[in-house]
Amino acid sequence: MVALAVDLAEELRELKRERNAVILAHNYQRPELQDVADFVGDSLGLSYAAQKTDADVILFCGVHFMAETAKIINPAKRVILPDLEAGCSLSESCPPARLKAFLEKNAAKNYYVIAYINCSAGVKALSDVICTSGNAEKVVRAAPQDRQLLFVPDQNLGAWVMERTGRKMDLWQGNCYVHVEFTARSISKIREEYPDAVVVAHPECTYAVRMLADEVCSTEKMVSYCKNSPAHEFIIVTEAGMLHRLKKEIPDKIFIAGPTDNCFCGECRYMKMNTLEKAHRALLNMEPEITLPEEIRRRAERPILRMLELSA
Ligand code: 13P
Ligand code: SF4
Repeated sequence: MVALAVDLAEELRELKRERNAVILAHNYQRPELQDVADFVGDSLGLSYAAQKTDADVILFCGVHFMAETAKIINPAKRVILPDLEAGCSLSESCPPARLKAFLEKNAAKNYYVIAYINCSAGVKALSDVICTSGNAEKVVRAAPQDRQLLFVPDQNLGAWVMERTGRKMDLWQGNCYVHVEFTARSISKIREEYPDAVVVAHPECTYAVRMLADEVCSTEKMVSYCKNSPAHEFIIVTEAGMLHRLKKEIPDKIFIAGPTDNCFCGECRYMKMNTLEKAHRALLNMEPEITLPEEIRRRAERPILRMLELSA
């Protein structure tokens, strides 16, 4: 079984060379996909990697909105996603038609719309600027002072940025089904078990959980934070795939997956839809491929480029 996986990974690397492809993987991907990727990172790092690549093909091991973002900024490249069904509950909580209707109904507010990158191209096309968990604070601080702000679609990340910047925003009531499973009870309990451990949480967690954390940050920042911290043990409150990268890059420290109150394992079912087999098949057949109407792509590109310039 292990030998088969190694062979498939080797075949995928070979195929990658033949196709002049680059493999980008999010921190939540299965270990074997992270291990075969050219770049592993958070949404921000992946956006920059997609912008910089000179490969002809991007095999994106992540969820749909991430691959779509890569396509928006790389219209001439072919962007392949191992499983087209790899969506995101947060993105789904804000359909473009509902946001459009909301903006029309509230036209008098002349909202400046800040969209967390976890949204569809249709939502990005309706936004003024995009942000990720890694640069949300910077993006919000740079927003025009004379405009009312609307933050979509994650209410928890939006509330966290409000706390950090003191800037008032109206928040779309969306959330990530994985991160809201962590509760104050489940985190307090594990803290009692590991009293010396430092708690690191993603800003998509609820206020009650963020309050218990020693550090709240993007998945990429989790790596540098844990590397530089004098602590030896860490409770990681985010999707469980994150532990692979932490253990691999910081082998001398101990990482404990933040538990939930039920048997839910803290895995994102969408992120886990991608497998080594599907990635190999996708690059072999050059499908499923991400495509989108040029009009939407063009309108969605502007706020993404604004973000990339802002946080460079
Ligand atoms: P990061 O950009 O921090 O990796 O977050 C992406 C994500 O989907 C969190 O659930
Ligand atoms: Fe979306 Fe949550 Fe999965 Fe991230 S972990 S991709 S926010 S459903």
